[in-house]
Amino acid sequence: MVDQIGGRPDPRSGIPDLTDVDIDSLPDWQGDPLTVYYEPMETESWALTRCPFVVAMGYFTGLQRVWNMPVLTRGTDVWMSLVPMEVESQWIGIDNASGHTVICGLGMGWSAAMTAFHPLIERVTVVERDPEIIELNRRIGLFDRLPDGLGDKITVVQGDAFEWTPDAPVDLLMPDIWLEVVSDGRADETLRMQQNIGAKGVYFWGQELELARHIVRNGQPINDATLAEQAGKFGLPLIGLDTEDYAENTKTAVKQWMKGRWLEGTNVPDELRSPADDMERR
Ligand SMILES: C[S@@+](CC[C@H](N)C(=O)[O-])C[C@H]1O[C@@H](n2cnc3c(N)ncnc32)[C@H](O)[C@@H]1O
Repeated sequence: MVDQIGGRPDPRSGIPDLTDVDIDSLPDWQGDPLTVYYEPMETESWALTRCPFVVAMGYFTGLQRVWNMPVLTRGTDVWMSLVPMEVESQWIGIDNASGHTVICGLGMGWSAAMTAFHPLIERVTVVERDPEIIELNRRIGLFDRLPDGLGDKITVVQGDAFEWTPDAPVDLLMPDIWLEVVSDGRADETLRMQQNIGAKGVYFWGQELELARHIVRNGQPINDATLAEQAGKFGLPLIGLDTEDYAENTKTAVKQWMKGRWLEGTNVPDELRSPADDMERR
């Protein structure tokens, strides 16, 4: 058991409450195969560092111990790290990628590299607006060091995800340009990208939480039918909804990551409540 310095963390923050948690009994995350490629380095605004040990909550899974974690920060903002939450929340898209996949948001290049490993992938185009992060990735050299020349499948273009248009048909669009896993207007922002890109399928970061916010605000239960119906209302050809246990996994992600960020007027049912929803009762 641990005493958390400064007391219990704010339930709306990303920091897990470890009070009453026996850290020794938590599972070790198996780690990510790309972790070894990331060495600490900095540009003027960005820093890639390593955190020796954290206890982190997965997106669909629970608390686990993570060792030697690469982290990408800009000032005090963590934009990407190799933790179960980041990996699990992008994996459905990566696993279902094929043909020509467009990723909006380079970050530390992790999702682009993992997508390049997919045997059905011919081409990965990454759209990134910040030249500094493109330069940081050039220095990391991840794509150049992937085995079997897999990095040759990846092209990074500098541009704004909301403006960029492709030069060839796109099979899958994976937007991941956001700092937080929940933010207002995310489906509309994705639609703006999709209107220029016209991908056959779309998987946007945090889509489970965005689907859930709308479904629950409308007073409906989260199930396969309401998820599909809401995807239709977004006007997006969302993929992943037929993944095994998608509705149950969505509920788990909601309980662990919604952190009170419901749409106005939502009456949160008991089964989806988390400590962040009980702040007003404290
Ligand atoms: C969360 S990170 C992406 C992480 C990435 N999926 C990975 O696996 O490493 C978000 C990235 O989106 C970029 N970004 C933010 N807004 C953007 C925009 N409008 N157009 C293109 N890139 C943008 C940020 O500079 C940042 O590099």
